[in-house]
Amino acid sequence: MDNQNTIDPKLTKLNELREESSKGGGENRINAQHKRGKLTAYERIELLFDDNTFEEIDPFVLHRSTDFGLEKNKFLGDAVVTGYGKINNRLCFAYSQDFTVLGGSLSEAVSQKICKCMDLAMKSGVPIIGLIDSGGARIQEGIDSLNGYSEIFFRNTRASGVIPQISAILGPAAGGATYSPALTDFIFVVQEIGQMYITGPDVIKAVTGESVSHEELGGALAHSTKSGVSHFATESEEECINKIRKLLTFLPSNNMETTPIVNSNDIGKRKNESLINIIPEASNQPYDMLEIINEIIDNNDFFQIHELFAKNIIVGFSRFNGDSVGIVAQQPSHLAGILDIDASVKAARFVRFCDSFNIPILTLIDVPGFMPGTSQEYGGIIRHGAKLIYAYAEATVPKISLLTRKAYGGAYIVMSSKGLGGDVNYSWPSGQVAVMGAEGAVNVIHRKKLDASETPDELRKNLVNEYEDIFMNPYVAASRGLIDNVIDPTETRNKIIQSLDMLKNKRDIIPPKKHGSIPL
Ligand code: HXC
Repeated sequence: MDNQNTIDPKLTKLNELREESSKGGGENRINAQHKRGKLTAYERIELLFDDNTFEEIDPFVLHRSTDFGLEKNKFLGDAVVTGYGKINNRLCFAYSQDFTVLGGSLSEAVSQKICKCMDLAMKSGVPIIGLIDSGGARIQEGIDSLNGYSEIFFRNTRASGVIPQISAILGPAAGGATYSPALTDFIFVVQEIGQMYITGPDVIKAVTGESVSHEELGGALAHSTKSGVSHFATESEEECINKIRKLLTFLPSNNMETTPIVNSNDIGKRKNESLINIIPEASNQPYDMLEIINEIIDNNDFFQIHELFAKNIIVGFSRFNGDSVGIVAQQPSHLAGILDIDASVKAARFVRFCDSFNIPILTLIDVPGFMPGTSQEYGGIIRHGAKLIYAYAEATVPKISLLTRKAYGGAYIVMSSKGLGGDVNYSWPSGQVAVMGAEGAVNVIHRKKLDASETPDELRKNLVNEYEDIFMNPYVAASRGLIDNVIDPTETRNKIIQSLDMLKNKRDIIPPKKHGSIPL
């Protein structure tokens, strides 16, 4: 027999099975997926990984359920595609749920595939990305599918702080499908395509009588503006996946590594002339903190996280001299940059993420205080504000801060202050450190004098001026070493680069403990 002209029947079978596996739930279901405006699990994988680098694992796995006719409803690979490949030339694992197979529902077999992938990602010390498109636990499998989620949640938790975990919601994420993403570091949701909820509109209608659409209830905007569950809302799947690829460039592969340096045309020192007049004359006048951030970082390239949630605080990644740095900054142009519950939680989570993954933290401060009011107090601003204190105090990565204008009261303490372990604390000459603003302070400490005065307005004005002369500058704090130096705004980038260089090999050890008891 001429071997060259004979097609090996075993290879033919392999190729047929591969072909079958790659079709998921079949042509009709793929067409239906496209009609919904959604990509298939394989198309998503192709977009996520560098060309021709994806290696699939477990394409022949089958579920073993026999109840409710499932024994006749089997698909090679079941409802998820798993594997690894390169993203920006760095190894990553991913799993992509396949809605064309039983609505992407999670069977025992699907869970085992995902868990194998997570275990390999942990052993290899590389990030894992979950592309979610699932109706939740496979209802016909009962306890087996529920246990499947337990196994995944267990691994999400064990992997937390060891490897970066990213989730993208590219379809329904119902019931159990929400909690794995919720345990990961970053969640993306695509508008009009991804929806996350514990119970869907039908159940809500039945239980509470409330009518709400899928998108209103759990869409990208609901979770990125209201609940804060998602960190990114994107308009398309392509935008979402490109953003995931970009986010990964700011992260190390695991907690024992640092992020690779990214060389560019904007390396080294340069002056920031545009910052000289950025602070308005009046201390309550807003300005855009993003202008400062974009001016001082490499290439104006700021990757903002949680952009639509608690806009009074800004968090995101940038680079200085090619090194990844996390930035936390007040936004004076939104609610005067005040610290409220949402801002505290948003910033605390980001600080802890940076600390877990060896990313230095730069804090830009202009904060009038914590938000007063019953809704904040009843909502637990004390407990939530404490999370931010805890996060900064616990962080051992380099902590550099710059006071651009106000740092009043508790908010001074929280924002990377020297007493909380700030390594380098700078202020611009416009910095003001005080227990509270001048008007409020004068009303408290001179109340009797003001009540007795025949010209209280004039007296108040004089007392405010006196208070401002004494406290509303950075030099009292600098005289105590609580501000290390007062710098010219044009030198900001250079001073930050110098401090980051000085702290490159920083070592700081927290006392041995199982883990802290953060006020959750
Ligand atoms: C088995 C499922 C399924 C599930 C969907 N399908 N979800 N099969 N288990 N959980 C199947 C459907 O029967 C259908 O099969 C196919 O997937 C496509 O679903 P459709 O309903 O036709 O699609 P669509 O109209 O787009 O609606 C998608 C959906 C809806 C919103 C996800 O299917 C839905 O509400 N599913 C149930 C969601 C849910 O309650 N899950 C369980 C949560 S409990 P056919 O063959 O008919 O086309 C849970 C436990 C943990 O997860 C809880 C922790 C908090």
